[in-house]
Amino acid sequence: MEASPRGYFGGLDWLRGAFLAVPREHFVPERVWWPRQGEHGLYELIDRRATPARWLKATYLLRTPLITQLDDGAVPPDGPASGVFTSSISCVTVVIELLRHLAPAPGDRVLEIGTGTGYTTALLAHRTGPDTVTTLEVDPQIADRARRRLDALGVRAHAVTGDGERGYAPGAPYDRILSTASVRRVPPAWLRQLRPGGVLIAPLDSPFGWDFTMRLTGTGSGAAVGRPVATVEFMRLRGQRAPRPHRELGWPDGIDARRWRDYEMRVDQHAQRIRVPAARKGKTLPVRATS
Ligand SMILES: C[S@@+](CC[C@H](N)C(=O)[O-])C[C@H]1O[C@@H](n2cnc3c(N)ncnc32)[C@H](O)[C@@H]1O
Repeated sequence: MEASPRGYFGGLDWLRGAFLAVPREHFVPERVWWPRQGEHGLYELIDRRATPARWLKATYLLRTPLITQLDDGAVPPDGPASGVFTSSISCVTVVIELLRHLAPAPGDRVLEIGTGTGYTTALLAHRTGPDTVTTLEVDPQIADRARRRLDALGVRAHAVTGDGERGYAPGAPYDRILSTASVRRVPPAWLRQLRPGGVLIAPLDSPFGWDFTMRLTGTGSGAAVGRPVATVEFMRLRGQRAPRPHRELGWPDGIDARRWRDYEMRVDQHAQRIRVPAARKGKTLPVRATS
């Protein structure tokens, strides 16, 4: 990592400080799966006790998430396996992007959906302070483990077991809401619980086979407006796994994937709409669909 304040974190000293202060290895389980298929189409298990150097290196790879659960826990972590990824520790570069766009300030009240290992929770709490972060995890075993890891590090965050799609009304309104599971439809509860002017960051499914990281601002009437800030791939929020026609989700037919940076989104209690304004004459369009 560069020592310069304009290094990897682009001058965001608070983010750099949080990454230096929170030990990622404290949150990574002793056994994780490598996220790319190897021999026989199986995901290799990396065991800290058997191969400590490999485990530590994998933990700190910038662009590789590590899989902490397959098939909602039906697959025990005792060897190479196949299955659907249902929990992970997000990769470093993606966490940086999410937090950079979330831009929480000290003292902000934050709601996180998808606690996972608790790593992002700890980074958030480092920035916003004790008792400011509420994090929701639907899987009880994953939630319990995260709670223990946060406690062991002395992180004062409110880790709740429950369906994040409903948000957490007792802590509302929130200055910042971050989902680390992707959605097809932004849950109306999040919009109700976001303060006017507050920022919501969530990965949103698209018709193109990848998600967009959406940055939305609360308008104060249970609605929000915003746009995509990056392309990303995330595991889906548990209640939104089933595919739905994109037209029902507010995506216009034939939308141009190359113009994703121009998309505008409006979402309220009843519907969400994504539109792309008519191209302005002479405007240079991005040619790549990935960030
Ligand atoms: C990509 S992982 C989160 C990773 C976490 N940010 C970290 O770095 O450790 C997504 C998490 O969202 C959780 N999840 C899925 N649906 C959820 C829901 N409806 N409410 C709360 N958590 C949910 C999954 O169980 C999983 O642990």
